Amino acid sequence: MSSTAAFTGSIPETYDRDMGPVIFVDYAAEMAARAASLNPKNLLETAAGTGIVTRALRDRLPKDVPITATDLNDPMLDIARRKFRDGEAVTFQPADAQDLPFGDGAFDVAVCQFGIMFYPDKEKSFREIHRVLKPGGRYLFSVWDSHAHNPYAALTDSVVRGLFPSDPPRFFQVPFSCAPIDPLKEMLIAAGFGDIVVSVMRLTKVIPDVDAFAHGLIYGNPLQVEIRERAGLNPDEAVARIADGLRREFGPGAKMPLQTLFYSATSVPKDG
Ligand SMILES: C[S@@+](CC[C@H](N)C(=O)[O-])C[C@H]1O[C@@H](n2cnc3c(N)ncnc32)[C@H](O)[C@@H]1O
Repeated sequence: MSSTAAFTGSIPETYDRDMGPVIFVDYAAEMAARAASLNPKNLLETAAGTGIVTRALRDRLPKDVPITATDLNDPMLDIARRKFRDGEAVTFQPADAQDLPFGDGAFDVAVCQFGIMFYPDKEKSFREIHRVLKPGGRYLFSVWDSHAHNPYAALTDSVVRGLFPSDPPRFFQVPFSCAPIDPLKEMLIAAGFGDIVVSVMRLTKVIPDVDAFAHGLIYGNPLQVEIRERAGLNPDEAVARIADGLRREFGPGAKMPLQTLFYSATSVPKDG
């Protein structure tokens, strides 16, 4: 596993608590609404993480529609499992989205929020989703738009680069690396998808607790590992600088813009 995909240790809990309510829940609700509008009989989620989308899906879909939620890192799924009661039709299963342990045509709909960026072989992951979807099945996924449209990310990246100018941590580039539409569109077509629709979703979000969010931006993802690997800096220093920067940039109301790209693609039979 590459270090940028290692969501383990204390990261899952911090991710869910400090970043979940700020940058993930609203897009999760949108993803669940889009998935529910397709009336699936069953649904696969990849890179489900701590179950933020899974919970929203369960609350939107009819109770008898089974959800299979997968992620590379079982410690992320451990947090997700806590969000469900016995008897809710959700199965959690560790799985690499590039090599899915499911049969051909097993699912009507597949969803993935903010996972694609971490897959080393994105086209392979698209081929796998195409394989496990029924012909005509739909793949809904979202990716972050660029730093320019997500100033919290530009700020975090610039703070950590400033702290380590000769060997900057690279993590904060990764979640934003799928902002260009063309490469993903070409990979989807090559993997057998058609009817591809991309929509831009912009939000204004109030950060409820700036210090907690700054803490999450460092300790809630593998960036903290990259900082610890570079001796001489307590990650708390980066947290303090990010909190200052968020206050400066977004003012006392702490209102920040967020922007993502939502994709919808239909699985076309190979000879179709
Ligand atoms: C930013 S989180 C998104 C989690 C969740 N979808 C959400 O919106 O909160 C990225 C997730 O991708 C997962 N991941 C990274 N590489 C993966 C892979 N090759 N296959 C499946 N999941 C992967 C990580 O474990 C992490 O949970």
